[in-house]
Amino acid sequence: MKTEVIRVDPREPAEDAIRYAADVLLRGGLVAFPTETVYGLGALADDRSAIAAVYAAKGRPSYNPLIVHVPGADEARAIAQRWPPAAQALAQAFWPGPLTLVVPRGSTIPETLSAGLPTMAVRAPRHAVAQALLRAVGRPVAAPSANPSTQLSPTRAEHVIKGLSGRVDLILDAGACPLGIESTVVDVTREPALVLRPGSITLAELAMVTPEVATQDTRAASGVPRASPGLEAKHYAPRARLVLAPREALAEAARRAAPPLGVLARGTTTGLEVAREIVLPEDARGYASGLFAALHALDDTGCRTVLVERVPEDPQWDGVRDRLARASAA
Ligand code: TXA
Ligand code: MG
Repeated sequence: MKTEVIRVDPREPAEDAIRYAADVLLRGGLVAFPTETVYGLGALADDRSAIAAVYAAKGRPSYNPLIVHVPGADEARAIAQRWPPAAQALAQAFWPGPLTLVVPRGSTIPETLSAGLPTMAVRAPRHAVAQALLRAVGRPVAAPSANPSTQLSPTRAEHVIKGLSGRVDLILDAGACPLGIESTVVDVTREPALVLRPGSITLAELAMVTPEVATQDTRAASGVPRASPGLEAKHYAPRARLVLAPREALAEAARRAAPPLGVLARGTTTGLEVAREIVLPEDARGYASGLFAALHALDDTGCRTVLVERVPEDPQWDGVRDRLARASAA
């Protein structure tokens, strides 16, 4: 198939472009669109063949469930079998925004969307293009990150083109996604609610709304098994091998690593002589926003090894540390 790319304004997308994209979706097609986190690969969430097309385009294993996107909490409640009090509270506090809630799946959403699970993940994104598209479609839209399975997530339309050209009907190009890492995923079917994937909404922010909320790690420590099928260790991986090291150990790591080398530094340049160095901002938000684009760029340079300067242990960095750990998993 030929992939069409249409540029849209990130804040005020043209109505005709949105209508056109909505019609592609309503005909069962695939449309990649920007959200505030990463680009999503959209398809009708209540249509079995559209769902199957998403899995095929990504090469995603059928056991890894998709996220449903809706404009807001009313539309989410309408497709959920039950809307727990924690869902209500969290949606009110953080929607539209980078938060995904796992809730009991209603009967209008096929079980294939959820890889057979009785639950479903749902989110209301706040990006103006995503909001306009979802409202124009008027039906729930499944949208995993718009990258081939296990590869880096896309934060620019160019990344989607690189990974999925010829496998999606249309890409809405609105430039860079402002947050840069995927949404925080919280399972509210259990009490207390459980964070399945860290993201830009931190545990501390969630705890202000649902005080008991826990992370997977603390629960695992107390003997509760992990329960998100999509959270394999290796994910979001660049082609290059990623080596994480504190700044003072980078020079030694560089001597041992296979060239060409890339460096991903934080705050200031390391001064190492390598094929390419990218310096990301010192703060967690700024760093997250540039992370995937930096890894894409280092891959495109042809680096075989990327030395990544360790980031702080602070909870603000949970989402970034999670992505770096997965990207560097062997
Ligand atoms: O920011 C985001 O969430 C982006 C944008 C496009 O919205 N989407 C995204 O989708 O990251 P995806 O498919 O790449 O990641 C969905 C995550 C996976 O880890 C999946 O396993 C988990 O959510 N998930 C989906 N449904 C689930 C369910 N019913 N129970 C537990 N985990 C679920
Ligand atoms: Mg993904």
